[in-house]
Formats: sequence, structure tokens, C-alpha cells
Amino acid sequence: MTLMEDSVGVGDLVLLEPLEEEPLLKNLQLRYENKEIYTYIGNVLISVNPYQQLPIYGPEFIAKYRDYTFYELKPHIYALANVAYQSLRDRDRDQCILITGESGAGKTEASKLVMSYVAAVCGKGEQVNSVKEQLLQSNPVLEAFGNAKTIRNNNSSRFGKYMDIEFDFKGSPLGGVITNYLLEKSRVVKQLEGERNFHIFYQLLAGADAHLLEALKLERDTSHYAYLNQKVSRVDGMDDASNFKSVQNAMTVIGFSETEIQQVLEVTALVLKLGNVELADESQTNGISASGIRDERGVQEIGEMIGLNSEELEKALCSRTMKTAKEEVVTTLNFTQAQYARDALAKNIYSRLFNWIVNRINESIKVGSGEKKKVMGVLDIYGFEILEDNSFEQFVINYCNEKLQQVFIEMTLKEEQEEYKREGIPWTKVDYFDNGIICNLIENNQQGILAMLDEECLRPGVVSDSTFLVKLNQVFSKHGYYESKVTQNAQRQYDHTMGLSCFRICHYAGKVTYNVNSFIDKNNDLLFRDLSQAMWKAQHPLLQSLFPEGVPTQTSLKRPPTAGAQFKSSVAILMKNLYSKNPNYIRCIKPNEHQQRGQFSSELVAVQTRYLGLLENVRVRRAGYAYRQRYGPFLERYRLLGRSTWPRWNGGDREGVEKVLGELSLSSEELAFGKTKIFIRSPKTLFYLEEKRRLRLQQLATLIQKIYRGWRCRTHYQLMRKSQILISSWFRGNMQKKRYAKIKASVVLIQAFVRGWKARKDYRKYFRSGAALTLADFIYKSITQKFLLGLRNNLPSTNILDRTWPAAPYRCFNTANQELQQLFYRWKCKRFRDRLSPKQVEILKEKLCASELFKGKKASYPQSVPIPFCGDYLGLQGNPKLQKLKGGEEGPVLMADTVKKVNRGNGKTSSRILLLTKGHVILIDTKKSQAKTVIGLDSVAEVSVTSFKDGLFSLHLNEISSVGSRGDFLLVSEHVIELLTKMYQAVLDATQRQLLISVTEKFSVRFKESSVAVKVIQGPEGDRNGKLKCKKKGSRCLEVTV
Ligand SMILES: Nc1ncnc2c1ncn2[C@@H]1O[C@H](COP(=O)(O)OP(=O)(O)O)[C@@H](O)[C@H]1O
Ligand SMILES: [Mg+2]
Repeated sequence: MTLMEDSVGVGDLVLLEPLEEEPLLKNLQLRYENKEIYTYIGNVLISVNPYQQLPIYGPEFIAKYRDYTFYELKPHIYALANVAYQSLRDRDRDQCILITGESGAGKTEASKLVMSYVAAVCGKGEQVNSVKEQLLQSNPVLEAFGNAKTIRNNNSSRFGKYMDIEFDFKGSPLGGVITNYLLEKSRVVKQLEGERNFHIFYQLLAGADAHLLEALKLERDTSHYAYLNQKVSRVDGMDDASNFKSVQNAMTVIGFSETEIQQVLEVTALVLKLGNVELADESQTNGISASGIRDERGVQEIGEMIGLNSEELEKALCSRTMKTAKEEVVTTLNFTQAQYARDALAKNIYSRLFNWIVNRINESIKVGSGEKKKVMGVLDIYGFEILEDNSFEQFVINYCNEKLQQVFIEMTLKEEQEEYKREGIPWTKVDYFDNGIICNLIENNQQGILAMLDEECLRPGVVSDSTFLVKLNQVFSKHGYYESKVTQNAQRQYDHTMGLSCFRICHYAGKVTYNVNSFIDKNNDLLFRDLSQAMWKAQHPLLQSLFPEGVPTQTSLKRPPTAGAQFKSSVAILMKNLYSKNPNYIRCIKPNEHQQRGQFSSELVAVQTRYLGLLENVRVRRAGYAYRQRYGPFLERYRLLGRSTWPRWNGGDREGVEKVLGELSLSSEELAFGKTKIFIRSPKTLFYLEEKRRLRLQQLATLIQKIYRGWRCRTHYQLMRKSQILISSWFRGNMQKKRYAKIKASVVLIQAFVRGWKARKDYRKYFRSGAALTLADFIYKSITQKFLLGLRNNLPSTNILDRTWPAAPYRCFNTANQELQQLFYRWKCKRFRDRLSPKQVEILKEKLCASELFKGKKASYPQSVPIPFCGDYLGLQGNPKLQKLKGGEEGPVLMADTVKKVNRGNGKTSSRILLLTKGHVILIDTKKSQAKTVIGLDSVAEVSVTSFKDGLFSLHLNEISSVGSRGDFLLVSEHVIELLTKMYQAVLDATQRQLLISVTEKFSVRFKESSVAVKVIQGPEGDRNGKLKCKKKGSRCLEVTV
């Protein structure tokens, strides 16, 4: 729902028709009755206290208002907060939110709503949230200690508060600073009818658990305490006990330590107890007034609690030390003075405690000095107050409100109109009441009421409130905004409402009569040194720190600045601060005096609208322009809406702005071009511009995004491509390197093989090829050596008959072994032979010859071998007779034996001796020893023998031999082999002829001219014992059986 569509009256009084007070009030009332408590005058928000919870707050509404611009939704405090916050965040302009209105008009509630809105929309995050929490939680603590129930407001702020919330460039809260103004400390000791002391006292007594109460030595019953109003201890709808818990919790959240909280509560309790210290008038009879403590117990308890000697405290309460340059004078205080001292102490302790709490909160929420920050100030200061009996407090409070009105006038009414003039915009002046003159009346440095009050306080001599009033009357006798009994009398006016000790100021919001009583005192705000010193001496860290001037060594006689001066200077600082910021106004209006919902007292509201200057405000607003901005920043902001000014503009700012607005073809009524600023009449136009800008920003953002994304993708792609190339080059390189390494290794291997092969080829002749042979040779030699050496050690016996011979260990030695065997054997034989004597040689020669002749031919030969050839079987040597037989034969008889001669004719045998000599064979008939036959060996042609074992043989003689004529001889000898061997040798020796010895079974034997054929038959074995039988078979045949 937009502002225009708002059905209940008009949402913006600028649209009010006719513009007069009556319709304005009617409009406000109509809206109020329809629960529309907020109304605009342009950008100023009017808030009428509903005195009831309306369903228009909370996250849902916050979310709604943050998404819309100011005029798009119903008037709301959130919309104002949103404008302020966005302007701070987006336009980098420090903001202040000025909340003004009477006490109970809803200022504090408004400030809380603003803060909660800002907290909800500004940045997020753990850090930010904790800052927000601290900022928000400062409220319950300050309200507990600084708010009280008054007749007008159950939760009236009894101090002024200005809070700077500090943000970073993103609009996230960093922290803040709280400044407090003039706590109404008189409330600590005295309250008006129907009012309460500060909330904390009731909260403490109601909410503290028994344990805490005991520790603080407090009683739960409020009626126990003199400083607490006995009539009102409860406020409807306010739960002191649970609020106490919230305060404790809030203090913890802000960062108060357990000890700090405890100490704060102790000091609070101390104030209550101080009120219960009853004083007694102890004036002495000599006229010296004095006072004392009525009941020591209370003082003792206090002393114990704060660690101070009770006597010391008593002394401080009941006496006063006056110090001059030379001496110290102690005077006793009378009863009233002592009571005053006690109350002053209580007020001072409490107000200092309050300041300490504010400073402690500031410590927690303060922002580092290095950070650049944007600031949003929220001012919730006590409202304009007109009480029955107005005193110094009301005076300064109203002064402050006067100053704030001044700010409003300066910044909205005056400044605006002057600006039009400056900028050369056609303008008809709107009249309004400028309260500068009232401000001057109060704050003027020489002739101001505050300055005069200070002067009066400092003046030596008798000083009293009445002397001050006299002075005022003198100075302001002609002042239009000052009245008193004296000035009235001078003008012959009669006014029964004006007391003698009063003066009246015509404030912008109404006339206020102030009672001058205790002005001096309150302005001096003196606390006797004795008291501050006593407090400083207390063994209570917090209390001690509250009274730094109590240090006895620091005895400066210089007066501290008066309360009025202090307030004036802090208001001046505040004003300076506010002027430096962009103001946002919330003007709170109280609809009735009874805190009643739905009640709208037109008279009451009329007064407020009048002094707030709402009508004038609407008039200026109507005639004027809703928005103005210097050309430079304006162009900078909206340049992007024009084709020619975006993205570059080289001309002047004003031309640029004209170009942009011209292109947008806005109606000329809506715009005015000043000398340095552009003026826009209606907010709608501005919102139109803003909306256009928002859309354009979206477009541009999309464009930037597009280009950026393109760029990012491109660079990303390029990076990837580069990386890919790099990777693949590395990979390829690596692969090639590996391949190369492999090839190289292979080449080296091949090379090595080839080289090896070549080298082996070259060197083969040197070692490899001959090795086997050499080895074989060596092995062969070594086994040969082994074999031979083994043989040497194992040679068989040298006996020639021993034919044994070790076998060859390897087959290859077979031949050699055989050879060796042969050699050995031959060697044995030779050795044997060499050892033979010549005679033995002869014998063996004969034997050899016999073997040559008969071996294998004749059966009797093997038997003959072992029998030595004896030769002489007849004993020829020793028988001379036989010797004779030999005749004249030369040489030895080779053989002498008995033989048988076979008669060739009949085959009969006869014995004969046979002698064989070198040349002859001699046959001698044994019986007829002379008859002998000599046969020359040369005539023996042939000998025949049988192959049998017999001794038969035949001597075949040559035909021509002389003997031969007789024919051949057929003989039988037992030693036929020996005989024939010797005969053979003899023939050989004698005639060099080899005698033919035939071995045959058939031979013929010649007789004279005839020949007989001899046939030898072998008889049965062993039958005859060598004896043979001859049988003549015919004449020509002889058969011999052997
Ligand atoms: N917007 C609001 N909604 C509901 N009640 C409100 C609102 N504003 C003020 N009130 C009521 O009015 C009372 C007084 O308001 P407060 O802000 O303390 O006044 P001020 O600070 O101007 O003296 C509050 O306690 C509350 O009950
Ligand atoms: Mg308030």
C-alpha cells in the first residue's frame, strides 16, 4: 500500500488540504483512532504515542520496510530508520536521529525501535551479532539505573542519552559511544507524589535472591527504606523482579564481570542504606548547633559493607572541615546541614555510579581508533517538562529542548529557506518562530541566565537564590520572554500563578514558571570534601574509584565547573555533533495526559503541534523541494542514467545533470537548477530516479558480471591451456626422455655385446679357445700323472711268471696300460735274462730252439719243457769206457742216451747207445760194444717225428752218404725232443744248414734201394707207457702203434 492509497486521512501532511491547524489535528486524530500512529511531513516522522502494543513491529515488518523506499509503504518509524541507514551505508553520510517530544511521548520507545531496526538490517556474523547484542543490551541497564516512574510516564528517562552507533564501510556495526546528560539525581532522595525512585532500587529488592539480599544486608520490603516513596512501590505492568534478572543478564552480555556486577549492586544498596541513616539534632545549650547519628547500627552496617570505619563516616556526615590557605577549621553541622550532607552524598554516589556504568558500557562497545567509521547518532533526550513546581532540573532540561528545537529550525526551516535564496531559486518566505532569542536568554555568555547563575555562585559575600532572582529581574526587566513578579508589577499585571520566588520563561513550547529556590545549591553541586575523602578511604574498589577527588594529597582549591556550565558545554558539544550529521526527525506527540490508549486530547496535541512548528514545517515543505544535492555528487550518482554522461562525461557538473535529467524528460516543475545544487520537488521524482538507478545498476552489474565472467573464463581457460601445454610438454619430454634412456640403454647394451663379442673374438685365441684343451690337457696330464704315480706305487711283483697288472683307471689309458704291461713284462724278462749265467743261457737257448721246433707240433713237447736238457743220460763223464766209444771224435759229446733201434725188416727193436757229437751221430750196439754206426751230420737230410707223445723218429740220410747205403734209421728215444733239438743245432753249427724236422704220421724209410712206408697210429692212451709196437704189414709197410 502506498502513501497515496493510504485510506486513513493523509499519510503525509504535505498533502493536507486546507493547510490549517484544525484539519491537521483532525487528520492526526483520525489516523490515531485508526491506529495509524505515524504520519509524515516530508521526511519528518510524527509519532503519536499509542499507549498500547500495536502489531506493526517485528521481523516481518522490518523485512518489508527494508525492501521498499520511503514513500512506498505506510508511514512507519522503520521507513525512517531505513532511509537513515541506507543513506549512511550507501551515501556515506553520517546520520543522526533526533527524537523530540514531551516526557512520555514515546521518545525512548522510538529510539529502541530505531536501534532494533538497524540491528536487524545491518550486517551479520558472529562478531557483528555480539556487537549488536551489546548495543541493544545497554538499554535495559541504562533504563534500570536512569529511568523512573513519573506521573507522566511509567518508564520515564531521567537522563539524556545520545548514542553514536558506529559502522564499518559495509554498514556492519562496530560498536558505539553513549553520552549521558544530567541524570536527575534529586530523585534519589526525594520523589514527587505518585512517582518512584529509579527502577533499580525496586528491582534489586524484588529480584535479588535471599542470598544476595543477605550479602547486601538488605530487606525485601521497600517500606523499610526512607529513600523509596512509601506510597508507590509498584508500577502496573512492570515486573521488577524479572526486570532485575534481565538487567543482570544484560550486564553480563555487555561484559561486566561478576565482581563488577556485585560491586555495582553493593553501591546501589549503599545508597538505600544511606537514606536510612537517621540524624539527630544535638544542638548544645551554648548555642552551638550540632548533629549526630540517631541509630549507630545503620552506620556500622554501611561501614562494614564498604570497608570504612563507622566513626569516620559519622564524622564526615556530621562535621565539615574548612580549609583555607593557612589553616583547617572543623565545624559541626547542624541537623539540616547534616541531612543535606547525607542526601548530597547519596545523590553523588548514585549519579557517579550511573556515569561509571555508562563509561563501563562504552569501554565494552568502543571501537578501535584506527578504523574508519560511519556514525548514526540516536538522540533520546528528556522531553520538555512543565511541572507544578519547576526547579533547576526542569530549567536545564527545557534549555536542552530549546536547543534541539533550534537545531530543527536551523536545519529544516531556516537553512532550507536560506538555501533557496542562496541558490537563486524563486521563493516566498514562510514565517516561523525562531527560538534563537530564548536560547540566547539562557545561554548567553555574559547576559545569559546560566552565566548569571554561575556568577552568583562564585560571588563572594552573601549569596542566596533570592539575590540571584533580583539580578535576573534587573537584567531581563525588558526581555520579552522573561517574566517575574517584579516585571509583571512594573507592567501592572496581576498574575496569581506567579510566586515571589519565581521567574517565568516563555519557551517555544510554552511558558514555564521556575522556582528559584535551591538553584544556587544545585548549580554548585557541592559535596563536602570530608565526604568525598571518606568515600575515597573506603575499602571498596568501585566506590573508591567514584571519588577520585577524595585523595587527601590532591587538595586543589580550584572549584569544579558548576552543573549549569557543565551542562551547557555538553549541550554545545552535542549540537556541534548534530550539525555535522544528516538529521532525521521523529517528533513524538503525547495524545493525552493519562497514559490512556485511544484517548486523543485535541487541546493537548494542538499545543504540541504548535510549539513543534508542524504547520510551518508543512508549509516550508510544500513550497520547497523535497530533495537537493550538489551537482557533483548528484551527477556522480545518476550519471549512469544518461546516454551522453555514461560512461564518461567531460563537461561541467551542472551541464551533466541537465543532460541526464533532460534525457529522462522529467517535468520542469519538478526540477529547479540552483547555483550549486539541483532541487527536486517531490520525493516521488527522487524515488523514480532511485528506481531507475537501481534497475540501471542491475543492468550494469550484469554487464560487469558478464565481462568479468568472460574475462575470468578466458583467463581461466588460458591458464588451463597454458597448464595443459606445460603438462603435455613435460609429459612428452618425460616420455621422450624415458624412451631415449631406454634406447640409450639398449644401444649401450648392444654396443657392450658387440664390443664384448669383438673383444672375445680378438681374445679368443689368447685364452678361451685353448682353455678347454689346456684344461683337458692339464686334467689329462694330472690324471695321467696320478695314474702313473699310482702305478709306480702299485707295481706288481717282478716275478716273470706273475702276469698280473692293474687295470687302467680310465679307458683312455687302456692301450698305454697294455703297452706298459708289455713293457714291464719285457723289462722283467730282460732283467731275468740279464741275470742268467751263460750256461743257463745255453740251456734256455736249447729250450728255445726246441720250442721253435716242436711247440704246437708234438704232443710230448709240453711235458718236455720243464725238464732240463741233461744231455748225458749215460754218465759218460765218469765212465771212461763209454768215453772210448766216442772214438776219436773231436769235441764234447752233445748227447749220450740209450735209444731203440727199430728193425726195418721185422719191426723188432733193439737198444743202442746214441752219442751225438758236433759232427756225427754215433750209434753203438750195447751188446757188441765195437759195433757202431757213425753217421755224419752233414748226411742227415731230414728227420721225421710223429705228433704223438711217442719217441719215434726217423733219420733220413742223404742217398750219397756212405752210411746211407744202409738206409735210413728208425729210432725211438725217450728224450726225442732234446735229442732232435741238439741235432738240429749241431747240424746248423756244422753245416749252416737247417735240419728239416717233419712232424708226420706217415713217412717212408729207405732201406738200401727199397723203402718202407711207416704209418704211425696212436694206440689207446696210457696203454703202453711209451712202448711202441711195430707190426710189419707187408714188405713195404710198417705199422707203428704208439
Ligand atoms: N510505539 C509505541 N507502542 C506502544 N507503546 C508505546 C509506544 N511508544 C511509547 N509507548 C508507551 O508510552 C510509554 C512512554 O514512552 P517513552 O518512550 O518512555 O516516553 P519518553 O521517553 O518520551 O518519555 C512507554 O512506556 C510505552 O508504554
Ligand atoms: Mg524517555
